[in-house]
Amino acid sequence: MKTILCIGAGYVGGPTMAMIAKKCPGYKITVADINPARIAAWQSEELPIYEPGLLELVKECRGKNLFFSTDVAAGIREADIIFVSVNTPTKTFGEGAGMAADLQYWEKVAREILANSDRDKIVVEKSTLPVRTAEAIARILNVPGSKVRFEILSNPEFLAEGTAIEDLEKPDRVLIGGNQTTEAGRRAVEELVAVYAHWVPRERILTTNVWSSELSKLVANAFLAQRISSVNSISALAEATEADVEEVARAIGMDSRIGPKFLRASVGFGGSCFQKDILNLVYICRHYGLHEVADYWHSVVKINDYQKSRFVGRILASMFNTIVGKRIAVFGFAFKANTGDTRETPAIAVCRKLLEERAALVVTDPAALPNAKKDLADFADRVAFEPDPYKAAAGAHALVFVTEWPQYQKLDFQRLYDSMAKPAFLFDGRNFLDHEKLFEIGFDVHPIGKPSLEHK
Ligand code: NAD
Ligand code: UGA
Repeated sequence: MKTILCIGAGYVGGPTMAMIAKKCPGYKITVADINPARIAAWQSEELPIYEPGLLELVKECRGKNLFFSTDVAAGIREADIIFVSVNTPTKTFGEGAGMAADLQYWEKVAREILANSDRDKIVVEKSTLPVRTAEAIARILNVPGSKVRFEILSNPEFLAEGTAIEDLEKPDRVLIGGNQTTEAGRRAVEELVAVYAHWVPRERILTTNVWSSELSKLVANAFLAQRISSVNSISALAEATEADVEEVARAIGMDSRIGPKFLRASVGFGGSCFQKDILNLVYICRHYGLHEVADYWHSVVKINDYQKSRFVGRILASMFNTIVGKRIAVFGFAFKANTGDTRETPAIAVCRKLLEERAALVVTDPAALPNAKKDLADFADRVAFEPDPYKAAAGAHALVFVTEWPQYQKLDFQRLYDSMAKPAFLFDGRNFLDHEKLFEIGFDVHPIGKPSLEHK
């Protein structure tokens, strides 16, 4: 039986290894993490992350060929292939603060692999890393004169939260970067290809050199985020000209060269990766002296910040330029539907700005309230957290929809309206509600990138 270890039991490590365990019954998979609470959660009925279909998948394999452990060293000793899926956040200190990737967790893991290996192993970069990181990892691992050799592969993950299981089961492509110039490098690539070939059609498994693979991951996220910033920039122009951004998106998306996906105007993109990976790309470009390229990609993040401010600006302007002491109910705090993840959620920026304007906030969300409480801890006395959306809305001057939870579309809006202060404002930061119907009920409705519906 081949043994696989994954270091890092987070949003990527857990689901990815669970899928490999299901599809490759001949492999023994261990997921190891230094966080004992996380590992205990992976061993329980209450997994540490909320992801549709994940619990069923984990339960199918757990204890058979899928194991969770805090003993990273033992895992390393046993493993033939080691995936590393630790966090690579934006650096918050020193050189490159606010831009570069913080690689301290990765380097620590590399040194731990070295310390616990007495035979050759394949080390797979699963985390998203700056281009040419494998070079540094190889220098740490392949100590001159040592008999133990490590092959470093890049195998970035493209899953999106909320649809992780679907994405893992039917990936658009699996990308594997390796050193194709040596026999050992080619063998390592083939070993990893063989894992995925258990369920991914061979033509969807793409092999490249390591640097292309590392760079492709950053570029994929940059392109996806760029589409959102592009359509969001147009939403501002649509609001100014009474065009409808959704009609524009449909019209341009029908051009097969543009395509319809990722053109939903919103309050702004969130999530742990888009901003972090673009800033990292910008930092790398500056490192190579490519300042025009850096500026170009930086503008994607700047438009996103602008969109979040603009959204709050519109709330303020519509509500007679003051929200001091007004109860405002924020519907949804997660960065997208079907996840409890709030990392870089636009809700944080929106809530902070509303609080700066001295609104009285109540936040509701079906999965993200524990994280929301942590994110807004410094405003604890001015924010209420309410799991029941009807209680959240009672007495509110405005409902502000930040996350497109499908259950919000089925709310009894008449009941919500009846319980609110009047005029009752509704801001749809996701354009996912029935605006005409809401207007008929009596709400003043403010969507993104289309004319407001107001009872004047
Ligand atoms: P995460 O923070 O959820 O998980 C990382 C885990 O690594 C944590 O549980 C942490 O305790 C553990 N860890 C850190 N140092 C460790 C060490 N020395 N030994 C053992 N465990 C250690 O992060 P994530 O969201 O899973 O992201 C991981 C990587 O994957 C990042 O580089 C991210 O950019 C990338 N990625 C994330 C997503 C996503 O949807 N979240 C998608 C694609 C790629
Ligand atoms: C994204 C990518 O889609 C994944 O391929 C990638 O693996 C992952 O980042 C990563 O590297 O972490 P994720 O952030 O989980 O996945 O979710 P997305 O569906 O991409 O949404 C990101 C943000 O953009 C969300 O806030 C979402 O609401 C927003 N969005 C998305 C829009 O505002 N408009 C759209 O049309 C699409």
